[in-house]
Amino acid sequence: MKHKLFSPYTIKNVTLKNRIVMSPMCMYSSHEQDGMVQPFHLAHYESRAAGQVGLVMIEATSVLPEGRISHEDLGIWEDAHIEGLKEVTEGIHRHDAKAAIQLAHAGRKANLKDEIFSPSAKAFNDAFKVPTEMTKQDIDRTITAFKEGAERAKEVGFDIIELHGAHGYLINQFLSPLTNERNDEYGGSAENRYRFLKEVIESVQTVWDGPLFVRISGEEYHEGGNTMEDFIFFSKEMKAQGVDLIDVSSGGVVPAAIDPYPGYQVSYAEQVKNGAQIDTGAVGLITSGNQAEEILQNDRADLIFLARALLKNPYWPKQAADELGYELEGPRQYTRAW
Ligand SMILES: Cc1cc2nc3c(=O)[nH]c(=O)nc-3n(C[C@H](O)[C@H](O)[C@H](O)COP(=O)(O)O)c2cc1C
Repeated sequence: MKHKLFSPYTIKNVTLKNRIVMSPMCMYSSHEQDGMVQPFHLAHYESRAAGQVGLVMIEATSVLPEGRISHEDLGIWEDAHIEGLKEVTEGIHRHDAKAAIQLAHAGRKANLKDEIFSPSAKAFNDAFKVPTEMTKQDIDRTITAFKEGAERAKEVGFDIIELHGAHGYLINQFLSPLTNERNDEYGGSAENRYRFLKEVIESVQTVWDGPLFVRISGEEYHEGGNTMEDFIFFSKEMKAQGVDLIDVSSGGVVPAAIDPYPGYQVSYAEQVKNGAQIDTGAVGLITSGNQAEEILQNDRADLIFLARALLKNPYWPKQAADELGYELEGPRQYTRAW
């Protein structure tokens, strides 16, 4: 069998050595409320690269202080963040892995002491603050912050940028009719709800011509939310704008009970891939090499994003290779044992 999980994947000028991606995961480890990289981040991300993950994507990193999910999030809102992030990418690159950053803004899901923002003044639930409805000026400032974040990410040396448009965070709040009640050009029709993301992409592209991914929630688990038809519309728009891959997750837009099962989000990645003719990443309870291989061989997605499986085992690629009968070229130092 020709193993697709261990086949390279090229987007623009970047080639990943395999299809295994470390899915972005907040580590809540920036201690001083300053968004700075800590020694923990260096060990955490480099160890997955040593484990032979092809693309290590670092956690949701905020483009503005008020866009953090928590006070412990990483930040990229000022130049002072560049140095620490450079150390992270250097660690990842030492193992022939590529490095990506997820640029994020939490919007109404920011769990912070100060004022928070959203397209509409509607709280996520009783535990969250009521956000301030964003003015056109707030919107412009936030779009500029995404651009500046991308500029810094480029200076750091990231190979790929992903925009966090999923899980009910700011971009998702604009996309969804459940959270966007605006009457201006940013609300109402699907075209208008897409406008904020469209402008973020345009703005990022003025400073970044490398691979660009967008993560979306491909199911909102609530009546009146976006449908697959809407997601395919958004994805076609993104494709036309030059986005390279849609990373398809689900949920988080409004409080809803989800009953996950193995591969529970894969069908959303598959529908977006077929519906918009764009490459996709599959994520969500993918835990074995065989499961990943099935998704790729059946053309249901192009990349496999793993979160919790990689927290449990930084050497998951080796485990998957053994399962599939593939000889993994490990780090030189491990090859005698592997
Ligand atoms: C500790 C933790 C933190 C997470 N933080 C983020 C994040 O920063 N950005 C994001 O898009 N998803 C985040 N997620 C979601 C994961 O990227 C992934 O989509 C989800 O866990 C499902 O994949 P899994 O079943 O392989 O864990 C997080 C998940 C976990 C477990």
